[in-house]
Amino acid sequence: MKKIKIAPSVLSADFSKMGEEIEGISKAGADVIHLDVMDGSFVKNISFGPKLIKDARRYSDKIFDAHLMIVNPWNYISKFKDAGADIITVHYEACQDRLKQTLKEIKALGVKCGAVINPDTPVNKIADVIDECDMILLMSVFPGFGGQKFIPEVLPKLEETANLIAKSGKEIDLEIDGGINLENVKSVKDAGANVIVAGSTVFAELDRAKIISDLRNA
Ligand code: DX5
Ligand code: ZN
Repeated sequence: MKKIKIAPSVLSADFSKMGEEIEGISKAGADVIHLDVMDGSFVKNISFGPKLIKDARRYSDKIFDAHLMIVNPWNYISKFKDAGADIITVHYEACQDRLKQTLKEIKALGVKCGAVINPDTPVNKIADVIDECDMILLMSVFPGFGGQKFIPEVLPKLEETANLIAKSGKEIDLEIDGGINLENVKSVKDAGANVIVAGSTVFAELDRAKIISDLRNA
């Protein structure tokens, strides 16, 4: 069994005190800090860029997981590396034919890399890049906003991806992102996810240590 890692998404944090929010979840037991970067073009929302990540880096030594929801991500990967991202994930839908090359470019910078697919993209679109990846991210909502409802049709896709990862024989994390709460978290773990993103579920609670531990142990 792979280690379960809880990855709060700071999209639901108070942006006016992001340093404290990230320090708080780090001390409360988060394994990974999930950073949702949105450009208003790939998705219909704008969040933040490398400057925030660079400044936030002083508040946490946890894994910084930059989820790039931007067009032409290859133009920005070195900026996110310089800002302190430990892993950069890029969407198949943004990269298309350039996905494998972009993953290689991320790795060449000395950063871990991952491929992401939307709820309506089949797993076979990323089957040929799994070997390049340190992590695969399956979206369980359409990206753009926190607080959306979990799409259960992702569960068979998680199982399919977990099987491909097992066949590769490599240590590849399987991350799930969108609408995760205490009711559905066990189902995604059972389907093979080991990196659990949770935004609204974590930041809605004042006791961050308890909700992180409850998500881990559910
Ligand atoms: C959606 C983002 C998610 C989001 C998760 O576009 O990629 O990371 O913040 O938020 P919740 O957990 O509230 O669905
Ligand atoms: Zn995300």
